[in-house]
Amino acid sequence: MSRRRVVRTLLKSDRMKSKPEAEDGVAAAAVDYGNRTIVLVGLMGAGKSSVGRRLAAALNLPFRDADTEIETASNMTIPDFFELHGEAAFREGERKVIARLLEEPRHVLATGGGAFMDPETRRLIAEKGCAIWLRADLDVIYKRCMKRNNRPLLKSGNPRETLQRLMNERYPVYAEADIIVDSGDGPHEIVVDKIISALATSASEGHLHENAGNE
Ligand code: S3P
Repeated sequence: MSRRRVVRTLLKSDRMKSKPEAEDGVAAAAVDYGNRTIVLVGLMGAGKSSVGRRLAAALNLPFRDADTEIETASNMTIPDFFELHGEAAFREGERKVIARLLEEPRHVLATGGGAFMDPETRRLIAEKGCAIWLRADLDVIYKRCMKRNNRPLLKSGNPRETLQRLMNERYPVYAEADIIVDSGDGPHEIVVDKIISALATSASEGHLHENAGNE
């Protein structure tokens, strides 16, 4: 299927009733994606913002970044927020911001790496969104994170060890996402294409089921 056709199918998609396991490490789950905000989750450095921006452009949807929204609402950078108010206050703000964004019309939403760990946020995303985990291995994550010095959780201790610990804690929870897409070292466009085809696969499965019911 051409990319244009895939996108058109996806935009029209409504009921998803099966759980197909696709190729390329892409897994799609049974969720009604029609009209749902597409929520990117995953560890820092997985490419949520970069992929999210491109995915939104490809699907002709608005793009929102939860971290940016927190920075705008608090009028300070995330590192400053952590330093001034601490992580607990950040998590509370993050939960509220994401709950507000999920009330907005359908869009692509990039979340901070810790957001999906919050049970209430996970519940809201399951209710109103479609969670996509951008899964990446430690080398990819570490390399990307070392390019910038803006992650408060990596400021103390050994960053590689911290990332490994966060992966151990978080990957089992990220695995609850509706769709899992491997995010490697290559261009972000590859990941965007994988997401679009995983969503479209689910959409077409849903149509098949609907058609079957009408026969
Ligand atoms: C965090 C990830 C960051 C940001 C904050 C906390 C985390 O977002 O929300 O520094 O707990 O993993 P990115 O995943 O966009 O870097």
